Amino acid sequence: MAPQDQLLDLQTRAKAMTPSGLLTMVAQRFPGRVALASSFGVEDQVLTDLLGRLAPPLPIFTLDTGRLPQETYDVLDATRKRYGIEIQVLFPNRTDVEELVGRSGVNSFYDSVESRKACCHARKVAPLRRKLGQLEAWITGLRREQAPTRQQVELVEWDETNGLFKINPLAGWTSEQVWEYIRLHHVPYNALHDRGYPSIGCAPCTRAVEPGQDIRAGRWWWETPEHKECGLHVVDGNLVRKEAPK
Ligand code: ADX
Ligand code: SF4
Repeated sequence: MAPQDQLLDLQTRAKAMTPSGLLTMVAQRFPGRVALASSFGVEDQVLTDLLGRLAPPLPIFTLDTGRLPQETYDVLDATRKRYGIEIQVLFPNRTDVEELVGRSGVNSFYDSVESRKACCHARKVAPLRRKLGQLEAWITGLRREQAPTRQQVELVEWDETNGLFKINPLAGWTSEQVWEYIRLHHVPYNALHDRGYPSIGCAPCTRAVEPGQDIRAGRWWWETPEHKECGLHVVDGNLVRKEAPK
């Protein structure tokens, strides 16, 4: 089936499915060629719990930027132990990071949006692209409610930049639904969530938010909202989502 036909078929079927049903469908559709990208945020923990119930479970990978908070490494370990699964930890290319730090310093992300994006590119986007080159579909914890830049997120999309399907099983879930699931199933979660961090990225680029503030207000808090994406999901202000090849 051509990618565009497959996209329409997957989108139609996904509409009638639970997140778990959707994960089962993509596991069957792309055997050995689909994986969850996890940052160990609360959405990714819901998906990990759901994946852990499939036989065999789908693979999980994470991008270790080298600047993650200790609490993220703690929940990574707790997740590995709880589900008895392997989690592939991907690192940036050493030369890319050495050149970036040599050129601009270790904290260049505070200097300008361009410098911040260069850091995100070397530490996150480039390693992600290398990984996605091996897959036919990737699964993320994106939700529409998370940000103005994410209001168009669909359950199944074509990721044109990387040339594969993108599956967002929790696209329509609210924060309340996510937390209800976590509590009901006693899923391990990042301790920073209890300290005012609804969204967690790298340590120097994430801070706690005030009650009532936007979910992503603590990410790159010194930048204006339209810049608050690192290039994993939004490129040049647009969601990475287009028609698939016919
Ligand atoms: S980000 O683009 O601003 O960093 P966010 O933290 O909201 O994204 O996470 C959205 C989704 O992107 C996560 O649910 C996860 O699927 C993926 N993701 C984000 N950061 C990582 C990471 N470090 N490793 C793997 N996947 C990630
Ligand atoms: Fe670099 Fe900050 Fe992006 Fe992490 S979030 S990769 S430290 S700019």
